[in-house]
Amino acid sequence: MDSQSIMELTNEHVMHTYSRLPLALVKGQGARVWDADGKEYLDFLGGLAVNSLGHCHPRVVEAIKKQAENFLHCSNLYYIQPQAELAKWLVDHSAADRVFFCNSGAEANEAAIKLARRWGKANRGPDAGHIISLRNSFHGRTLATITATGQAKYQEGLEPLPAGFSYVTLNDLAELEAEIERQGDKLCAIMLEVIQGEGGVNVADREYVQAVRRLCDERGVLLIIDEVQTGMGRTGRLFGYEHYDIEPDIFTLAKALGGGVPIGAMLAKEQVAEAFSPGTHASTFGGNPLACAAGLAVVQTMEDEGLVERCAKMGEYFMEGLRSLGEKHPSLVQDVRGKGLILGLEISRGARDVAGACLAKGILVNAIGDRVLRFLPPFIITEAEIDQVVAALDGILSGMASCN
Ligand SMILES: Cc1ncc(COP(=O)(O)O)c(C=O)c1O
Repeated sequence: MDSQSIMELTNEHVMHTYSRLPLALVKGQGARVWDADGKEYLDFLGGLAVNSLGHCHPRVVEAIKKQAENFLHCSNLYYIQPQAELAKWLVDHSAADRVFFCNSGAEANEAAIKLARRWGKANRGPDAGHIISLRNSFHGRTLATITATGQAKYQEGLEPLPAGFSYVTLNDLAELEAEIERQGDKLCAIMLEVIQGEGGVNVADREYVQAVRRLCDERGVLLIIDEVQTGMGRTGRLFGYEHYDIEPDIFTLAKALGGGVPIGAMLAKEQVAEAFSPGTHASTFGGNPLACAAGLAVVQTMEDEGLVERCAKMGEYFMEGLRSLGEKHPSLVQDVRGKGLILGLEISRGARDVAGACLAKGILVNAIGDRVLRFLPPFIITEAEIDQVVAALDGILSGMASCN
């Protein structure tokens, strides 16, 4: 099928919940993807932080094939070997003691909210179900997670929303302290991303996250960190919270964990995980053999090939390139931010046009609104490929500056 036919078929039959770019991708290898007409693109969007190992990494493909030939699905009424092994790897490499598997980031956060509420009621009192989250956050599209998401545009038309959420501004400690005071015994948790991905690549200050941890300890409430986008090495450390020298009570993963196979995970400290007992939460597909075999291949490959370290190194190189654009185009570039290979370039206008111009040059990047370009390339990206993208951006920004 050619690109045009795929687009027509989609537009006719699939619900219109996405503003799609006019591109039908059918093949991926490493940092490259191809459309149905054979045109090649350099992928700096990475399936929105999913394809950290690059497309179709041979070890992940092999693990999926092997697992598919042997056993695709098994109910959680029985024990599942790849699930147990992936849980052990995650626990061995993180602050958590136990894992609950599900199928997406929203489901992982939904599970975190449920666990925090059960823990609150068991440990703080019958009213302790309130969660403070942050403005500009993004936690998913289920009813509870759009309510935790501090952006009105995701909530419009979906009222009545679940009760028990309020919002504060990232890096404003005084506002958080006042809100904690206001919620009192009703509070059970504070929920945040250490880098707000969908919100515009907004990085939490070190002092802020450390103070939030301290406040949670003082008030006896939980700290939930949403690592759906920042987890699995994306920031140059295995988990984003590691940059802050703190440990969350609960954190969530999805996106990159399965290397492209849908999987989510909610992880917690033992004392918190105890608030779930058999029957309190479940998922038919959660932790299924295929998804966990893919996840195991992802984590083992990341470890064997030193990909988290590579992400940190390439991230520094890319950051330097983006900063050089800031020096060359001071009237357009407002800010360069992020960590590892989740980087944002804020410009005064026209981010969507820049993303469109990149597409025309065979490069996939993401525009968040009209001011932020977000880059999420795979960790296997090379310096030459980063140079190519920086040079393309330089050309596009020069064109825009000369139109002033
Ligand atoms: C930080 C964060 N949390 C949750 C989600 C939701 O994940 P999913 O789309 O897998 O439900 C996303 C998706 O972009 C995200 O970036």
